[in-house]
Amino acid sequence: MLAGCRQDMHDQPRFKPFAENDFYTDLRSARPPVAGTVARGQLREDTYLYTGKLGDNPGDYMPFPITDELLARGQQRYNIYCAPCHSRVGDGNGVIPSRGFPRKPPSFHIDRLRKAPLGYLFDVITNGFGSMPDYSSQIQPRDRWAIVAYTRTLQLSQDATTADVPAGQKVPSKPPQFRELGSGATLPVREAKPSGGPK
Ligand code: HEC
Repeated sequence: MLAGCRQDMHDQPRFKPFAENDFYTDLRSARPPVAGTVARGQLREDTYLYTGKLGDNPGDYMPFPITDELLARGQQRYNIYCAPCHSRVGDGNGVIPSRGFPRKPPSFHIDRLRKAPLGYLFDVITNGFGSMPDYSSQIQPRDRWAIVAYTRTLQLSQDATTADVPAGQKVPSKPPQFRELGSGATLPVREAKPSGGPK
């Protein structure tokens, strides 16, 4: 009876991974999944979602629809993971390169990157590029795509013309005026009444 009281959990009978065992007729302790098992979460059937590639080439579409929430998520993730090097507007003037990171990132607003397919941007985040590390373990695929969508939005924001504005909408004629510029950690403070332009 006393011996029974010392039955700790670490003494439980168990198999070591891949050890031989004669309990089963095939002598394998590791059991194959039951026939007809449906993979949940780890079956990466949708290759494009995980690679951004069609065969060997980057595709130029999102694997799911873009919504306001997705863009907001992309902006938030971009500001956390990318802005320290690429800056919040994507011109490559982030704080890390200014403190001696070996290489200054290119601006996203150069012609080559403006024309780069969405799947290419996804691939750079997933596998890194040159001296830029990869972010595949820190950022989940869906969030990587959200960042891709936001990066393209940044590119449009720096390269838009009045022709891109939907009919009937007004474009501010002057940029907003700021009383104080933010530090990067804090947001800029706008003038109470912007001089000119909409309120
Ligand atoms: C630690 C700094 C750093 C961070 C953080 C970083 N990058 Fe980069 N990125 C770089 C540098 C440096 C380069 C240029 C690398 C080179 O040419 O060797 C680069 C290049 C790029 C390029 C251009 C590739 C090309 O074809 O020229 C893209 C697109 C890019 N980064 C996207 C991102 C995105 C999106 C994120 C956030 C998930 C991110 N980067 C985070 C430093 C960074």
